[in-house]
Amino acid sequence: MPQQQIPSDYQATPELLTGRRILVTGAGDGIGKAVSLALAKHGATVILLGRTVHKLESVYDQIVDASCPQPALYPLNLAGAAPDDYQQLASRVEAELGGLEGVVHNAGILGSLSPLRHYDEAEWMEVMQVNLNSAFFLTRACLPLLERATDASILFTSSNVGFYGRAYWGAYAVSKFASEGLMQVLADEVEEAGTLRVNSFNPGRVRTHMRAAAYPAEDPQTLPSPEEITTPYLYLLGPDSHGINGQAFSFG
Ligand SMILES: NC(=O)c1ccc[n+]([C@@H]2O[C@H](COP(=O)([O-])OP(=O)(O)OC[C@H]3O[C@@H](n4cnc5c(N)ncnc54)[C@H](OP(=O)(O)O)[C@@H]3O)[C@@H](O)[C@H]2O)c1
Repeated sequence: MPQQQIPSDYQATPELLTGRRILVTGAGDGIGKAVSLALAKHGATVILLGRTVHKLESVYDQIVDASCPQPALYPLNLAGAAPDDYQQLASRVEAELGGLEGVVHNAGILGSLSPLRHYDEAEWMEVMQVNLNSAFFLTRACLPLLERATDASILFTSSNVGFYGRAYWGAYAVSKFASEGLMQVLADEVEEAGTLRVNSFNPGRVRTHMRAAAYPAEDPQTLPSPEEITTPYLYLLGPDSHGINGQAFSFG
């Protein structure tokens, strides 16, 4: 499936996401942090999910200091979380926030860059758990809430190696291919009801810890910052993309 771009002249209005409750995984650093701040600045109540509490608290403070809607903190290590943990999370969101209009599956780990024949078994399982299985369990637990909303959006995070297999990218690449599949299957299942849409976004090259680990010789200053790539997230999570379902988007 060809990757698409959002309209080149798109500009999010300041109140675009007012009243929307949106959960972001991996919200403490990199792209997830920038996206969480951008969503909050456009009126969303953001549920900040991640594994490092002090990073989540720092994002929380930045959102509150900017006089945006008060976010919620949800520390959870996706590597060790069980299906019940996701059900508990959905119940807490319902009890404390009353509903949910968006989920951004952003958390991810790179794993090792090594030939498949040498790929460590435990690392394979962990990458699949964090990048793929957690997104399935979280989506399944949140579906009843998302389907109750009149306009809700789920966004999976993709990568170039999720479209074209590349040597040594191992579990990371396979998890991204599978995330595209998960997105497409779910999008087809919810198409008829028309209130929930499911898409993916490939951010391309972004100046984060993950990118630096994958390309240590690269000059980070040649890359866009996470803050520079947040507009497609606003578009795909807000009402302006209503009706767009099952599509793979990329930055550009
Ligand atoms: N950067 C790029 O060039 C690029 C390109 C294509 C796709 N992507 C995708 O974009 C997404 C974000 O990547 P990034 O570049 O922003 O990476 P990053 O800076 O390494 O951030 C990853 C985030 O995921 C969180 N995370 C990792 N393992 C977790 C776990 N077990 N439980 C909960 N949270 C966990 C991290 O938390 P901690 O901070 O606590 O470790 C961090 O907040 C990923 O899905 C990645 O595959 C990135």
